[in-house]
Amino acid sequence: MDNELVIVLDFGGQYNQLIARRVRECNVYCEVHPYTLGIEKIKEMKPKGIIFTGGPDSVYGEKSPRCGKEVLELGIPVLGICYGAQLMAYLLGGQVKTAPVSEFGKTEVKIDISSDLFHNVSTDIIAWMSHTDYIAEVPEGFRICASTPVCPVAAMEYKEKRFYATQFHPEVMHTQEGTKILSNFVYNVCGCNGSWKMSSFVEDAIKSLREKAGKGKVLCALSGGVDSSVAAVLLSKAVGKQLTCVFADHGLLRKNEGDEVEAVFGPEGPYDLNFIRVNCQERFYEKLKGITEPEQKRRIIGEEFIRVFEEEAKKIGAVDFLVQGTIYPDVIESGLGKSAVIKSHHNVGGLPDCVDFKEIIEPLRMLFKDEVRKAGIELGIPENLVFRQPFPGPGLGIRIIGEVTAEKCHIVQEADAIYREEIAKAGLDRDLGQYFAALTNMRSVGVMGDGRTYDYAVVLRAVNTSDFMTAEPARIPWEVLEKAASRIVNEVKGVNRVLYDCTGKPPATIEFE
Ligand code: XMP
Repeated sequence: MDNELVIVLDFGGQYNQLIARRVRECNVYCEVHPYTLGIEKIKEMKPKGIIFTGGPDSVYGEKSPRCGKEVLELGIPVLGICYGAQLMAYLLGGQVKTAPVSEFGKTEVKIDISSDLFHNVSTDIIAWMSHTDYIAEVPEGFRICASTPVCPVAAMEYKEKRFYATQFHPEVMHTQEGTKILSNFVYNVCGCNGSWKMSSFVEDAIKSLREKAGKGKVLCALSGGVDSSVAAVLLSKAVGKQLTCVFADHGLLRKNEGDEVEAVFGPEGPYDLNFIRVNCQERFYEKLKGITEPEQKRRIIGEEFIRVFEEEAKKIGAVDFLVQGTIYPDVIESGLGKSAVIKSHHNVGGLPDCVDFKEIIEPLRMLFKDEVRKAGIELGIPENLVFRQPFPGPGLGIRIIGEVTAEKCHIVQEADAIYREEIAKAGLDRDLGQYFAALTNMRSVGVMGDGRTYDYAVVLRAVNTSDFMTAEPARIPWEVLEKAASRIVNEVKGVNRVLYDCTGKPPATIEFE
């Protein structure tokens, strides 16, 4: 790769990976690093630009995250965002104050378009603000280049030094022309030429995975979902037959899924790798017996998965590395950033404390789902696999509310297969972000023929989303829902009612547990 790297220094904000992703969308490679990265490391990486992120702290706080002023003495352009803007002001002798009231949400901002940061941006934009502290006085040499009625310094610049700062968040969707602002920074200010593509990521990842693995044996935890499939193919290109993919069929998969995965990755499939299918349904059902608490279910499934992989690794002998297809939203929602734990995605927060591998490799850890799909296409993975809707690691275990049993798994598998079939028949499968059937733990009274029934209610869900961090309930045509519902109650024993979930994320999540 050439030296076109922009680094994001993470001061604890929630949108940090989003900044990196927006920069990558401008075809400039971008990575997020902790603010403690250190000056020597930064020099070694030779970034063309540095972005300071937002964060929940105040620059005057005793324990607030701060990098040294020397980062601003490297001659590298810097963009500070929100807390990052305040930090820049603070480090360079400006003044930051606490406002009596926070400025939060969409705000009208007056832009001075003579600034290089705002080239071709409108003079009035709506931008996303989320702050209490504000820059009251810019440091020497700076000038104000955007403001709001309550925030005197919505943006500032020191053109000669190539320092820019915005109090608002250009990376979030709610900021109009935000991507243009970031692209102005990387092109006009940092002088990047935008030659990076997903193919470069794939090439670099293959090269660095090959170096990391050396001659060591690698085991890939394959679920057949998009993420672990992309990780597996990446690794197989990097280390060939040093890789063994272990596919644990835990009995919580969709109907026929075990066989479908085997058809792609097994000996009959197109890839040159070792493939082991472990049929461990009973073992998982046994462990989940009587367990109803969602996080406990996730932990049990996560732990049992690892134990299966460890056992397989022992049989293979001398396996150093475990590969997982963890992607960025898994990391953030498991609370490994600074944000609250939403749920422990089993390949991240759901891991047991002690894992019998020398190292866990997560080559997709910084990518979003759609970026993973792009990488999959670059790798030549068939489109039907790449555009497969996501399926969570804990599988139907988190689509069955309450205790998991083989019988309930069977019900939800059958209902889900019918629903998916009807969605595909209606030609909606590519338009929806994710859709599936789940089993409520509720039984209710119905009537079938002349008899009373007391059976389960199945719930259908379909959402539109691009990043799976937020989602809208999809407006599935009524005829499609009606057809699916009628088929489900008629064809699936044990179900007498079908519901549709109309909630978005937030406040709900996509999965039920
Ligand atoms: P939620 O339910 O958190 O889901 O809104 C967001 C996306 O992540 C998937 N998901 C998971 N994927 N392991 C995974 O690999 C997990 O534990 C897990 N939990 C949720 C979910 O299907 C959706 O696409």
